[in-house]
Amino acid sequence: MLNESRLLAVAGFPVGHSRSPAMQRAALAELGIPWRYFRLPLPPERFEETVRALPAAGYAGLNVTVPHKEAALALADSATPTAEAIGAANTLTFGDRGIEAENTDAPALIAALGGSPAGKTALVLGAGGAGRAAAWALREAGAQVSAWNRTTERAKQLSDELGVAHADRPRAAEIMVNTTSVGLDGTTDPLDALHLAGLEPPPVLVDLVYAQGGTALAAWGRVGGSHVVDGLEILVRQGALSLESWTGRVAPLATMRAAVQDGLDID
Ligand code: ATR
Repeated sequence: MLNESRLLAVAGFPVGHSRSPAMQRAALAELGIPWRYFRLPLPPERFEETVRALPAAGYAGLNVTVPHKEAALALADSATPTAEAIGAANTLTFGDRGIEAENTDAPALIAALGGSPAGKTALVLGAGGAGRAAAWALREAGAQVSAWNRTTERAKQLSDELGVAHADRPRAAEIMVNTTSVGLDGTTDPLDALHLAGLEPPPVLVDLVYAQGGTALAAWGRVGGSHVVDGLEILVRQGALSLESWTGRVAPLATMRAAVQDGLDID
């Protein structure tokens, strides 16, 4: 089956800047699997009908990104407990059992930490989809999680639904995960926006935001001696887990990392 010609894609809207095609093509080439990986811009109103047509068109699976992660879970025939709990899926696999939904963002975060978070305190900043995935993953892995968000109501809702604590303001923690979009524009000061001024950088700092040259938050952590995990490493890890689900092969992490960092793209 791996030597048949099958198709994969990343679906999003917009999806033009996704690094998944470069990363997954490099991985498939390294593994000697002749599958092709496309970029699929899909407006929300076309998402479901298009995805349902993909298996018959030769697709083995799909990566799903903004804004389709909830819709991907909703249309699937089955879903992993992780995807169900988070309420979103970033990976679909097409097989004999229909459309299977999975969330590899959550295990990717844990894998990227470089050690078990069990028993450690963790602070999740942000209460959007990425915040839910991070809070759930850390709680499942045994961390003592609290969640803070600019809009308090959203953090409270996340805390109630996922069984983690609510933080009314950011406090010191052994693991800090920024899941907000702060830092994406390169101008907002994350220490101000996230109320971190006055706190020591944590032992482990994860910033899901990626910026060329690194984010200001990551720089704060590095200067303070944090072990910093950036958004690209999480991208690599979630993509690796998706590839393993589709192919059953061990993903070549170093190749994927190199492809993402080069910004290589052969579109
Ligand atoms: P996603 O699903 O990708 O996590 P989202 O639902 O748009 O995206 O969430 C974005 C997150 O960034 C939210 O937690 C948002 O806080 P609010 O819920 O208060 O909107 C946070 N965010 C965006 N800009 C921010 C800023 N300038 N300061 C603090 N938090 C910000």
